[in-house]
Amino acid sequence: MKRFAVRVFGCQMNAYDGDRIRTSMIHLGWTECPEEDAEVVILVTCSIREKAEQKVVSEIGRYNLRYRNTGSPAVVLVGCMAQRIGLQIAKKFRCVRLVSGPRHLGLVPQGIEDALADGARRFFMDEDPKALEDLEVVPTERTNPYKAYVTITYGCDRFCTYCIVPYVRGRLQSRDHGEILKECRELAASGVSEITLLGQNVDAYGKDKEGEYGFASLLKDVSEIEGIKRLRFATSHPRDFDEDILEVMARTPSICRAVNLPVQSGSDRILRAMNRGYTREQYISLVKKIREALPGISLTTDLIVGFPNETEEDFMDSYNLLDELRFDIVHTAAYSPREGTKAAAMEGQTDNRVKADRLNRINDLQSRIARELNEEYVGREEEILVDGPAPRGENSLQGRTKTDKVVIVKGPSELLGKYVRVKIVRASHWSLEGEII
Ligand code: SAH
Ligand code: SF4
Ligand code: F3S
Repeated sequence: MKRFAVRVFGCQMNAYDGDRIRTSMIHLGWTECPEEDAEVVILVTCSIREKAEQKVVSEIGRYNLRYRNTGSPAVVLVGCMAQRIGLQIAKKFRCVRLVSGPRHLGLVPQGIEDALADGARRFFMDEDPKALEDLEVVPTERTNPYKAYVTITYGCDRFCTYCIVPYVRGRLQSRDHGEILKECRELAASGVSEITLLGQNVDAYGKDKEGEYGFASLLKDVSEIEGIKRLRFATSHPRDFDEDILEVMARTPSICRAVNLPVQSGSDRILRAMNRGYTREQYISLVKKIREALPGISLTTDLIVGFPNETEEDFMDSYNLLDELRFDIVHTAAYSPREGTKAAAMEGQTDNRVKADRLNRINDLQSRIARELNEEYVGREEEILVDGPAPRGENSLQGRTKTDKVVIVKGPSELLGKYVRVKIVRASHWSLEGEII
């Protein structure tokens, strides 16, 4: 027996956590298998919007039916949603045998074995938002063999008024840079050539500690590791994206020309109500500075529509900002009230139909812009890292450019994990098509 499955919801930090849990389970002698055959299903969950949670609850309902009939699978609930409402869920569903907050992952693998052995449930909640029982294992068993994530900061201190993250992931804490570098070196030695450094606000790296060692220093040190051909990072915060980061990027070709810089709104009134800490003008001037320092960079952003009291005029400020700045990708979301956050208690919640309408208008605008920006790539030569099969089409593979554009190419699976030069022949709003040179 000892067969498990992992399912990851939410952001890249969860993907990293899922990879680390998988690796630890395998070290304990477990085998990964399809979820239908698993004795233990580990759910790495997200709380960012209500929908993300609802989906997981209905999945747990499904597992619970099977558990009551067959005694399997035991469900292990970890991650942000586990921290927020895991205890309630465990009360309702018997199949949930272990619940852990994101800061107690270190106790999970052994906890699973113990819970199965004695039949008693385990609850490892993050009661102190600064305490940490991390899972200290290099995620060598990954979904993707060529690329790896490395979390560099835990939690977040910014308390944007709509956001649940600081409540479920705790306070900002930077990982020791020696440990990060050691992990990156081990990953490189195991064949990884692309690393993405992760945090809710990577630019704040080191700001919670004494000394000068910040995100720029870390970027420089990771980029110098042998075998690392590409270095990415996410997510950036406009308030913390300092000049020294741009300088290191400009000097270091292996740091990818792609930055995700969430704006959230184009209206000063709403930005203030969100507690984002910058104005529209400050954001625009930062974008200009980045584009001047790094010509050809791809910029992506996140935007929320329908924040409480967002008027049509506020919304148009967001719309026009996207039209003016022309991002490569915009991750859009309808505002979802999260219990316990400031914005959820605000009067003037926006009607769902209004949110849906604004979301549609923004998405229409953005598909056009994205297609236009992608069309500029047609005829160019690019280097891509081929990292997986394409979602559709026989003999089709998918890779990414340094600017994080998805490129679909025809070619043999031997190209997986390789860097190849391609000529871009077609573009759509979400991807490019290339021919191998
Ligand atoms: N730390 C990053 C991203 C945090 S969460 C930042 O500061 O921007 C990822 C995205 O989810 C956010 O950028 C935001 O657009 C979206 N999001 C967060 N809370 C939300 C909420 N309550 N409703 C809708 N979208 C939300
Ligand atoms: Fe949430 Fe704001 Fe922190 Fe991003 S910076 S994780 S949006 S509180
Ligand atoms: Fe979701 Fe938690 Fe990430 S709420 S977006 S999984 S930090």
